[in-house]
Amino acid sequence: MTTTTVQATAEAVRLESVTKTYGAVRALDGVTWTFPRGGFTAVMGPSGSGKSTFLHCASGLDRPSEGGVRIGGVDIGRLSEAKRTLLRRKRIGFVFQDFNLIPSMDVEQNITLPLQLGGLEADPAWLAEVVRRVGLADRLRHRPSELSGGQQQRAALARALVTRPEVVFADEPTGALDPRTAREVLRLLREAVDTTGQTLVLVTHDPLAAAWADSAVFLSRGRIVDEMLRPTAAAVASRWESL
Ligand SMILES: Nc1ncnc2c1ncn2[C@@H]1O[C@H](COP(=O)(O)OP(=O)(O)OP(=O)(O)O)[C@@H](O)[C@H]1O
Ligand SMILES: [Mg+2]
Repeated sequence: MTTTTVQATAEAVRLESVTKTYGAVRALDGVTWTFPRGGFTAVMGPSGSGKSTFLHCASGLDRPSEGGVRIGGVDIGRLSEAKRTLLRRKRIGFVFQDFNLIPSMDVEQNITLPLQLGGLEADPAWLAEVVRRVGLADRLRHRPSELSGGQQQRAALARALVTRPEVVFADEPTGALDPRTAREVLRLLREAVDTTGQTLVLVTHDPLAAAWADSAVFLSRGRIVDEMLRPTAAAVASRWESL
């Protein structure tokens, strides 16, 4: 089997004229966008505007109906299903609103699961660093049900970072958290960008969350209609009103 080489490009992810239709519904309508390496981008838009569909197509979880997606320079449309899955496991990290931890596994097993699935060696120093950052060093033997929501999301964040992925996609990662816990998770996401140059795409409808990003892009009816650099919560909220 040949390996898929991920190149050191300035773009982490590139979407080119991506359309996704579900029957008569055009969830994404010709979206072209580049996520720069080391950038933190918030993707915003009303419910049903296509945010999750955008994330699924950009991350290789789903295939566009039309158009192309490159991750680290690799055109994932040209990959077989198996290779796309492998690339995703090795090169993409995910954080979801409802944490998606495996209940029967302890925290350490959950965090290292992507390494197992991707057939990757654990780097003990990096694993320890990630665990330290999310503040779960003394919780590694606990099950998810024994953790608070914030702790569960911090475990999910460590799981997303453990492979040093090309890009981390987070879909409403603070949606189930109280404001203070949400801030803590956002601070950790920001830290991953600032200290390791992690590329991060955050889907959110919360202007306070978007204000942590370097840029906010606005989706409306499956199209990108605006971008705001150095977004503030107030500016985002006001742009939001007009969508
Ligand atoms: N699997 C699917 N089958 C049919 N329609 C779908 C499917 N997934 C999404 N859609 C439709 O595509 C459109 C965009 O949905 P999407 O989930 O991307 O929106 P969203 O912006 O993430 O919304 P929310 O903020 O509520 O999560 C909606 O009209 C939705 O009903
Ligand atoms: Mg969604």
